[in-house]
Amino acid sequence: MKQRRAVIFDCDPGVDDAVALLLALAARDELDLLGITTVAGNVSAALTARNACLIRDIADRSDVPVHAGAQRPLRREPVEAGHFHGESGLGDLPIGKPREGVTPGHAVDFIATTLRSAIDTSRHVCIVITGPMTNVALALQRDPRLIEGVECFAIMGGARSEGGNITASSEYNIHADPDAAHYVFNAGPVVYAFGLDATHQVRATPARTTRIHALGSRSAVAAARLLEFSNALPANGPREHGAPLHDPCPIAWLLAPQLFRFRPCHIDVEVDSPLTLGHTAVEFRASSERAQNVQWAIEADADGVFDLLERYFAAGRSGKA
Ligand code: BDR
Ligand code: CA
Repeated sequence: MKQRRAVIFDCDPGVDDAVALLLALAARDELDLLGITTVAGNVSAALTARNACLIRDIADRSDVPVHAGAQRPLRREPVEAGHFHGESGLGDLPIGKPREGVTPGHAVDFIATTLRSAIDTSRHVCIVITGPMTNVALALQRDPRLIEGVECFAIMGGARSEGGNITASSEYNIHADPDAAHYVFNAGPVVYAFGLDATHQVRATPARTTRIHALGSRSAVAAARLLEFSNALPANGPREHGAPLHDPCPIAWLLAPQLFRFRPCHIDVEVDSPLTLGHTAVEFRASSERAQNVQWAIEADADGVFDLLERYFAAGRSGKA
């Protein structure tokens, strides 16, 4: 049997984070999900941690720990995005008390301990980040040698040709903690970045969400409801075009890399200018002064991503309705 890929999933659920979590949790045979770490982002840190626990319940994966993390960005005030994710952060999904709460231990400590043991066992970890990158930056700043335990970063964040979704040129995850993003992009291991240029190609059209809903598993129904919530938001454009599916992209890539095409580049993040704070300067031209530290996703096979979601959310893999 193929060895499962070791993964830490750092996120701020968040409607699309929740769909990404459902996908990662359904991929038991392919991903060794060592832990979910949460951060303040779309909603407060308390809510993102609770939401991750609720999603874990839906997927029936009490074996995966959830560790709550940073309550604010490295050196700025939190920027929330509840208008895109609903007051709870999970659209209109019913919110109860999770069956199990978070595991004791701060997310930053969990990331550090896991990377230390990855170094000791030579089993490197892929870190998926679909929220502000505060937790990962804090862990690596505390002990830069931990980078040796990282196989790669797979992040949702940034924008180039599409322009921004929170300011004219910045994408939310980078804008919310540009200092952390700048640190992670330049930390060393290759960063696979799924910015708006790619995620805007993957749209949850009504036909696609209806097909997911019809699968009837718990994960399918929850994912479809989350996607339908996003589709109904005027800010996401006409309903029939479908809302962009951001955060599931890095997980889909881990499961089916052929669905994405990349260009190597160097990325610097604007951390000072009030006008362009969080702008990702994506430089495709190679130069000896700038390492090509990032693989920038330029093309996504949207049908392929939705076929993948359907396969993983089919009853049997993702719990009965
Ligand atoms: C990103 O911003 C958040 O609101 C979403 O969850 C996603 O991670 C898209 O720009
Ligand atoms: Ca997110």
